[in-house]
Amino acid sequence: MDRITKTTSRCPRTDHRILLEAACRAALTAGDQIRSLYNQPHEITMKGAINLVTEADLAAEAAILGSLAEDCPGIPFMTEESTATHGKHPGDCFWIIDPLDGTTNFAHGFPYFAVSIALFAHGKTLVGVVYAPMSDELFCAVKNCGAWLNGAAIEVTNTGLLIESLIGTGFPYTSGDNIAKLMRQFESVLTNVRDIRRAGAAALDLAYLACGRLDGFYELELQPWDTAAGLLLVEEAGGQVTDLTGGVYSPFLSEILASNTMLHPHLLRLLR
Ligand code: IPD
Ligand code: CA
Ligand code: CA
Repeated sequence: MDRITKTTSRCPRTDHRILLEAACRAALTAGDQIRSLYNQPHEITMKGAINLVTEADLAAEAAILGSLAEDCPGIPFMTEESTATHGKHPGDCFWIIDPLDGTTNFAHGFPYFAVSIALFAHGKTLVGVVYAPMSDELFCAVKNCGAWLNGAAIEVTNTGLLIESLIGTGFPYTSGDNIAKLMRQFESVLTNVRDIRRAGAAALDLAYLACGRLDGFYELELQPWDTAAGLLLVEEAGGQVTDLTGGVYSPFLSEILASNTMLHPHLLRLLR
């Protein structure tokens, strides 16, 4: 049985299975595109002083939109590179897509990046898929159904002590605007945990938390396509996701704290 069938066979509802399969197929197709471009010279344009777009972001986005439109016609999209959809909810039920999360890593030949696809329905993520092409790891989750890596169930760690925890974070492209707060939070966490990782792809950081490679993750100034899929991976793997005050998280909020649940109150205290 292939990993998509292995994963979808765990979903009791046919409609969820169809959406999950469509998201997996789109993510794998985009991942193939990205992998094939990895060792080629890149065509880079700038969205801001340090914010890049490569040919792979655009090729992956086109591949995803084509694949989803074919498998699930009529469901609208919110995607990172088609700026026309930014900030607008295109309906009650839509795909939220980051075709290449970790573009800076991709452009520098640092093999930590992913495709992120979420089906967002009535204010919640229903299906989340994050695919890391260089490690060929397909992370999937369906609301109230579970989370899987290449077809096998995953869960968060049970680390309860900050001093034993590995925490992920990231820095926004406009870090200069908020440097004092960023550094305050960084110092507070760094001096209380085993170590911090800034690996460079928020969606994949959340997937790593879901499968037990990180114990927590926080970041400021993220976009819906960075977290919409990953948040469900974490929740379905037994973790907790809130804003930095402990309030209900939505991918339309810019600040996120995700953890293995046990560490959540401790991390909230450090980040407040
Ligand atoms: C970025 C990555 C990075 C995070 C940035 C995001 P992109 O996404 O997730 O880890 O720190 O805030 O914008 O631009 O590579 O899709
Ligand atoms: Ca991103
Ligand atoms: Ca991106």
